Amino acid sequence: AAVYVPRDSAALAVGADEVAYALQAECGRRGLPIRLVRNGSRGLFWLEPLVEVETPRGRVAYGPVDAADVPALLDAGLLAGAPHPLCHGLTDAIAYLARQERLTFARMGVTDPLSLDDYRALGGYAGLERALAKTPEAIIDDVLQSGLRGRGGAAFPAGIKWKTVRQARAAQKYVVCNADEGDSGTFSDRMTMEGDPFMLIEGMTIAALATGATRGYVYVRSEYPHAVATLEEAIRIALAHGLLGDDILGAGRAFRLEVRKAAGAYVCGEETALLESLEGRRGTVRAKPPLPALQGLFGQPTVINNVITFASVPLILARGPAFYRDYGVGRSHGTLPIQLAGNIRHGGLVEKAFGVTLRELLYDFGGGSATGRPIKAVQVGGPLGAYVPESQWDVPLDYEAYAAMGAVVGHGGIVVHDDGADLAGLARYAMEFCAIESCGKCTPCRIGSTRGVEVIDRLRAAELPEQRRQQERLLRDLCDTMLNGSLCAMGGMTPYPVLSALNHYPRDFGLGTGETG
Ligand code: NAI
Ligand code: SF4
Repeated sequence: AAVYVPRDSAALAVGADEVAYALQAECGRRGLPIRLVRNGSRGLFWLEPLVEVETPRGRVAYGPVDAADVPALLDAGLLAGAPHPLCHGLTDAIAYLARQERLTFARMGVTDPLSLDDYRALGGYAGLERALAKTPEAIIDDVLQSGLRGRGGAAFPAGIKWKTVRQARAAQKYVVCNADEGDSGTFSDRMTMEGDPFMLIEGMTIAALATGATRGYVYVRSEYPHAVATLEEAIRIALAHGLLGDDILGAGRAFRLEVRKAAGAYVCGEETALLESLEGRRGTVRAKPPLPALQGLFGQPTVINNVITFASVPLILARGPAFYRDYGVGRSHGTLPIQLAGNIRHGGLVEKAFGVTLRELLYDFGGGSATGRPIKAVQVGGPLGAYVPESQWDVPLDYEAYAAMGAVVGHGGIVVHDDGADLAGLARYAMEFCAIESCGKCTPCRIGSTRGVEVIDRLRAAELPEQRRQQERLLRDLCDTMLNGSLCAMGGMTPYPVLSALNHYPRDFGLGTGETG
């Protein structure tokens, strides 16, 4: 029987390797032949390590499995998919998975990430084959028509960016993948690189064909050693099969791809700091213009997109832009791999069409807080995203609807806090984070963040209401300067968590009345 034990970092962190060894050793002792597959993760993190067994009915799931559970599981008939207290029935029927709309993550946890046969059997490389039969302009038109917007957070239309690079005249163009995934509570980029790396390679190759680029780099955060190793191996395999290199699938087109390790600075996720770092310099932000699309890596036209943006492209080419565009609401087309983290019972990866609400994500998927206490605040879109209070949990997840309420969807990271959270402390943390991570290039961010920590400290320590209101005025003034005067999103977005905390939870600052103090 085929038995699946994930090799994803989230599963490894809770003992997946030990479970895999125990299964092999125990089956060896019992003379039971098994084919052990190290798949990616399904993204149901509270069930990791999630062991799956292939049966004539489909794959049956067991989890969370400890190495010590293995003998009892085998006694109960694990290899036949027999019942056991750790059994969850057919994997595909688990409500958390069955309710999702997995387009980009359709293969995630299903396949062996390094098996090209698995990848191709489930639709892989159909997009590249289609792209090779099209003109670059027709590829770009598909991406434009699909409505795909940058999934790193800024939501800029991918097709327009590609068109800008296509139309630029230069001897050398580049494709760069931003895999620096620095947002708190996010892991969809990592899961893609570890669990379905050919999808990213295929998406970047299509971007190269569309824009005329012949070289590419994946800039991966150094905290992701498994992603780096898997991606490098996948690139070797793709090269050996003519899917990368100087003559892609015999079509006479070239694309060479390499992995570069980042050095751990949050600001290197900002595209121009990333390019500085790739060029071997310290990661400081460059002023824009010029846009990277025109003068990017080594001054040449460069497509720079997030992992999930590239990973969304193969399906768009394979199934046609209308198929993708029909998912979503308003101007937010397609799906978003949302990451549930923090104080949540069922943390993990939920891919849904835009339009899903936070309430559905928190309760129908997340099952409420892990502590069982009421949820007080939810930070959406990373450490620089706003805290969203309960009164806004029914707003559909959509770039424009979130912008209208002073929040961001960002890269789809959701971090949950229960009623024990102190939002004034969290606001202070946002300023402190900015002070630590600031690249130092502009004053509102470099100096403002440090002053922000001090003002919040004074506000919290003030004894008289008038003193608190005075510090509040100062803090709002400072946030205004940072929002409007910073060179990049680091300083420019730090006010989002600060102001949302102040506006929705004033009681935590000793001010007025708030939603839940
Ligand atoms: P931006 O709005 O300046 O740019 C978006 C993208 O569009 C850039 O790649 C830019 O070069 C490109 N662009 C803009 N106009 C263009 C044109 N006319 N032609 C071609 N390309 C054009 O936003 P920025 O500063 O790149 O990103 C900010 C976002 O990053 C925030 O909204 C935040 O959500 C997100 N973020 C994501 C993190 C993560 O870990 N994924 C971490 C921190 C922030
Ligand atoms: Fe650097 Fe901060 Fe200014 Fe961005 S906002 S350029 S990180 S100092």
